[in-house]
Amino acid sequence: MLFSMLREIGVTFLLYACSVWAGFTSATDQLAVAAPVALHPGATLNLSSVSSTSQYTVLTHPELSGYRVRVKKSDFCDPTVNVYTGYLDVDYGAKHMFFYFFESRRDPAKDDVMMWINGGPGCSSSMGLLMELGPCQIDMQNVSSNGTVWNPYSWNAEANIFFLDQPVGVGFSYADYGETIETTEDAAQNVHAFISIFFETFSQFAGRPLHLSGESYGGRYLPAFASYIVDQNQVAIAEGREPLNLKSVLIGNGITDISTLYPGRYEIECGTAALEVPMQSISTCVRMKIALPRCQMDMQKHCIERFNEMNCRAVIGFCDSELSTGYWATGRNVYDISKMCIGDSLCYAENTAIKAFLDSPAVREQLGVESPSNFSACSREVGRGFNMHMDKYAVPSQHYVAGLLERGVRVLIYAGTYDWQCNWVANKLWVDKLEWTGRAAYNAVSWRDWEVDGQKAGETKAAGLLTFATVRDAGHMVPHDKPAEAQAMVSRWLTQQEL
Ligand SMILES: *[C@@H]1O[C@H](CO)[C@@H](O)[C@H](O)[C@H]1NC(C)=O
Ligand SMILES: *[C@@H]1O[C@H](CO)[C@@H](O)[C@H](O)[C@H]1NC(C)=O
Ligand SMILES: *[C@@H]1O[C@H](CO)[C@@H](O)[C@H](O)[C@H]1NC(C)=O
Ligand SMILES: *[C@@H]1O[C@H](CO)[C@@H](O)[C@H](O)[C@H]1NC(C)=O
Repeated sequence: MLFSMLREIGVTFLLYACSVWAGFTSATDQLAVAAPVALHPGATLNLSSVSSTSQYTVLTHPELSGYRVRVKKSDFCDPTVNVYTGYLDVDYGAKHMFFYFFESRRDPAKDDVMMWINGGPGCSSSMGLLMELGPCQIDMQNVSSNGTVWNPYSWNAEANIFFLDQPVGVGFSYADYGETIETTEDAAQNVHAFISIFFETFSQFAGRPLHLSGESYGGRYLPAFASYIVDQNQVAIAEGREPLNLKSVLIGNGITDISTLYPGRYEIECGTAALEVPMQSISTCVRMKIALPRCQMDMQKHCIERFNEMNCRAVIGFCDSELSTGYWATGRNVYDISKMCIGDSLCYAENTAIKAFLDSPAVREQLGVESPSNFSACSREVGRGFNMHMDKYAVPSQHYVAGLLERGVRVLIYAGTYDWQCNWVANKLWVDKLEWTGRAAYNAVSWRDWEVDGQKAGETKAAGLLTFATVRDAGHMVPHDKPAEAQAMVSRWLTQQEL
């Protein structure tokens, strides 16, 4: 009984590894489609030629057979810029990946291009869009007639940005015949295809600096996606195609190196890393302290040195029951230790509002959504598929980060200090011990405050292409809690200033 209860909690925890939800039905609102525009080899299109808001422009490209882009203009979210939404149809139309694209508010013809993805695995990027860094935020005060309010701190202030629902099965992305993606490495291929076809098709972006950003499970996704892009660039160059100009990766409160996760949680709950006085009871902290070495040792043996799926799963079960259930039992928000969990099990009232908003037929039509399902913030199916492969533990993602740094890709690891789930201490610990040529230099640098409007925003250190930053008093969703600070951070990062 106890075991099965703990297992329940363990499973919940995995699903919550950065949000969860459900709700499926069928609804068909197929949008009219204009005759496909077939591009000649080497031919390109200007995004501004996509002018219809009521029908998709369909683009195919002979050099990318098996892929198709459907794109339309939209009056969604940000009236100050051109907005496009649509699908990349992958694998001869069997998989459909939904995206939102917002031009930069500054100079879309010159500004960099950024991608944002949420984590989960299984969570929709529209959550980041509508409650964190997007051009508009879900209206929680009932002040707007269109369901959203304009966000002055949006990350499209100085960059063109797209939000991608990936892998297939997430948000409005869907598959026709039940295909699934169940590992990060598989997901990387579709993401690479998406970005490539986007840059190939819309010539104005050719060669434009590209940044990949995201949070949470993005700490697992993005290092792998970026590495795949770097490796595929070599193939592109060999074949005489233009490589993607990948410049940087930004990861907020990510899960990257699993070896530091539990020590980090101990410090957040039982130390003073997040709050001045530990919030956890002494008895629970003692229990955690006793379990921690065994959890670490067994993880090292069964998950890290030699990954064994069955043994690793058992170890994680032990670690979670000894080191995570105590926090869940407090009723606090797992994404923000300073708050209680409110609303549904995702702990934020916005989640319910976003689902209602995105499920409304008018908004679906405005976006051109053709997914047969209702929206869910996080797909249980996708989460389950990744969990089945122990995707979070199977590949030590920090090695991708090192590989990127050695090949000239800048990396920003940032973390809100109030997060418990993928907390700043865990991130600091893995970055400190990351094996790369800049390690000694990074460790020799001392911490300093970084400021926004004369106020301390957090602490940072940097060496070479690597920067680490904390965002003081922010939870897991940094732009939600500290929008001005988050925007300033991104602005400085894009212009290669110190934080
Ligand atoms: C899907 O959403 C629509 C609109 O809110 C609703 O009418 C329908 O009942 C939903 N279906 C399911 C199964 O949740
Ligand atoms: C939605 O309404 C808000 C407030 O009424 C307004 O600021 C915003 O620009 C509108 N958004 C769109 C996309 O029209
Ligand atoms: C929001 O405002 C509208 C019009 O003022 C009203 O009809 C509606 O009931 C309000 N909704 C909520 C949730 O307060
Ligand atoms: C794309 O179209 C816009 C608007 O017509 C124009 O300003 C821009 O120069 C075009 N870009 C390219 C690369 O053709």
